[in-house]
Amino acid sequence: MSEQNVYPVDPAFAAKAHADDDKYQAMYEQSINDPEAFWGEQGKRLDWFKPYTKVKNTTFDPHTVDIKWYEDGELNASYNCLDRHLETRGDQVAIIWEGDDPSEDEKITYRDLHARVCRFANALKAKGVQKGDVVTLYMPMIPEAAVAMLACARVGAVHSIVFGGFSPEALAARIEGAKSKVVITSNYSLRGGKVVPLKENVDKALDHHEAGNLIETVFVVKRVDKDVAWNDSRDVWYEGAVAEQSDDCPAEPMNAEAPLFILYTSGSTGAPKGLKHTTGGYMVYAAMTHQYVFDYHEGDVYWCTADVGWVTGHSYIVYGPLANGATTLMFEGVPSYPDNSRFGRVIEKHKVNQFYTAPTAIRALMQQGEDVLGDSDLSSLKLLGSVGEPINPEAWTWYHRTFGKGKCPIVDTWWQTETGGIMIVPLPGATATKPGSATRPFFGVQPALLDGEGKEIEGAGEGNLVIKDSWPGQSRSIWGDHERFIQTYFSTFKGVYTTGDGARRDEDGYYWITGRVDDVINVSGHRMGTAEVESALVAHPAVAEAAVVGYPHDLKGQGIYVYVTLQSGFDASDELMKELRNWVRSEIGPIASPDLIQFAPGMPKTRSGKIMRRILRKIAEDDFGALGDTSTLADPTVVDDLIEHRMNRK
Ligand code: PRX
Repeated sequence: MSEQNVYPVDPAFAAKAHADDDKYQAMYEQSINDPEAFWGEQGKRLDWFKPYTKVKNTTFDPHTVDIKWYEDGELNASYNCLDRHLETRGDQVAIIWEGDDPSEDEKITYRDLHARVCRFANALKAKGVQKGDVVTLYMPMIPEAAVAMLACARVGAVHSIVFGGFSPEALAARIEGAKSKVVITSNYSLRGGKVVPLKENVDKALDHHEAGNLIETVFVVKRVDKDVAWNDSRDVWYEGAVAEQSDDCPAEPMNAEAPLFILYTSGSTGAPKGLKHTTGGYMVYAAMTHQYVFDYHEGDVYWCTADVGWVTGHSYIVYGPLANGATTLMFEGVPSYPDNSRFGRVIEKHKVNQFYTAPTAIRALMQQGEDVLGDSDLSSLKLLGSVGEPINPEAWTWYHRTFGKGKCPIVDTWWQTETGGIMIVPLPGATATKPGSATRPFFGVQPALLDGEGKEIEGAGEGNLVIKDSWPGQSRSIWGDHERFIQTYFSTFKGVYTTGDGARRDEDGYYWITGRVDDVINVSGHRMGTAEVESALVAHPAVAEAAVVGYPHDLKGQGIYVYVTLQSGFDASDELMKELRNWVRSEIGPIASPDLIQFAPGMPKTRSGKIMRRILRKIAEDDFGALGDTSTLADPTVVDDLIEHRMNRK
């Protein structure tokens, strides 16, 4: 291997793993040379009501982009996660739930989970929910979130989960975009000992927006024993609704290409878009990646710390693990409550074997020191995973040393909401790792690097990361806007899927993700469109113009740096800064809260009026020595003022 810092595969691990290097190579080759045969075989990991006869029917031709897998097969995702396990593992724990408060936990067997899902599926039907209807979930990390997902899938409804940290405004926009008829929420949520008024947020979303006309029913889980405002014609207690239902509800046969869920995510322009994922290909891909990437074996306890509001929670807390008959841990709380040893305590308590988290959480713990996990017994751990943003080598080696005791392989998993499942990753029994590299493609994934002109870069080099052919987990469209899907992912470069990320490939063929090449930033693993934050800001009466860029942030990966030009009559002040920060929090949610705000009398613009974001980025990075060519600016003196009053000084 070409680099010094290589962690070889442990031969003992490889011997027991689902794939060693030889197997990886052979399977990878087949997956690329004969995708029909490869995925035809893999499709058999699911139970089908009607078997498929066709496997792959996909084109990335920008005129027609059309992606179909297993298109004539019929199945049900909920059936595959529950019913088919009942005979062999009905009494096995499906979900271990660990509450925010360490004294609260629950173990739910496959049989219990099946019954709960059936009851709620019947409750949905009783409220008129039918095949194809969109149901919005705005929930904390409680078992009812998984129950609600699987109940939707069971009746053929499409779930659209909105992360519980989003504001009422953001929730309303997503309800409207998806034309949802039903919301499922809880009265409050609990995080780090704090109570968050989820139901009140739903009320705000429905009272002040078009969303209120769409939504007919709001199911409310009673998470906290505390009163909440009530609308008799719309609100229904979850507990009451399921109590009167039978625990028998046959799973609806669904076409493989029937939508399973919509998930909103940010792009470089416009409002967040609802990516559509369908049933057959998504389930095959989620299950297969979960098994191989985490080297999941019968009886293992697997923990992914993501929230079900993000794609990681969909694929790797619920659908992948449950399709595989795994025991999956669901955690309601935060890593710092009651104290910073919580992750360690939970691993010890439930004897977790695979642990999957985000670099931002690792960096936050790392800051607390080497012994942050206290005397937790971590000996059950066999493998560690990372997701959501590039993991810096310091965090990687710290994770390897403290959590992994130098023995656990780390799988750095690169993927996206759009990809449905993990795309570039070291298989733990096959691939030697290099800290900071996501390494090699998963089966069926053909990455390539293109230069700015769309020419493919061979061998070692750096460029735009694209994928050359379809894989089963891929998103099929943007909900209600296929044209935008084509524009966003298939028009910059023809005939390939454009990821929006840049990457470097080294001499060993390993991929190193360098970050987004568009106006999307990644804050603590949360993806955010700078345009979204800008449009929230200009909606404030004091703001004439706003420009938002990312800058390197020790904990969050990227921080949000805001330049604001005020309307005449408004003065820059600390109060206004605070107000703008709160404004963005209430328009989008706390995750979009600006880190640094600079009041700028003018923006660096070209003579045609376009803001030169490259310059704003450099100043935000405190790297204005290399501003490049500023001669095309309409007023070059603007830049001096921006530099003088910059907010980030290293
Ligand atoms: O920039 C990449 C980054 O997160 C983006 C996808 O964000 P999202 O759709 O929210 O999905 C996150 C969870 C899969 C990507 O375009 N990203 C994700 N994983 C990695 C990563 N960057 C580097 N390394 C990773 N392992």
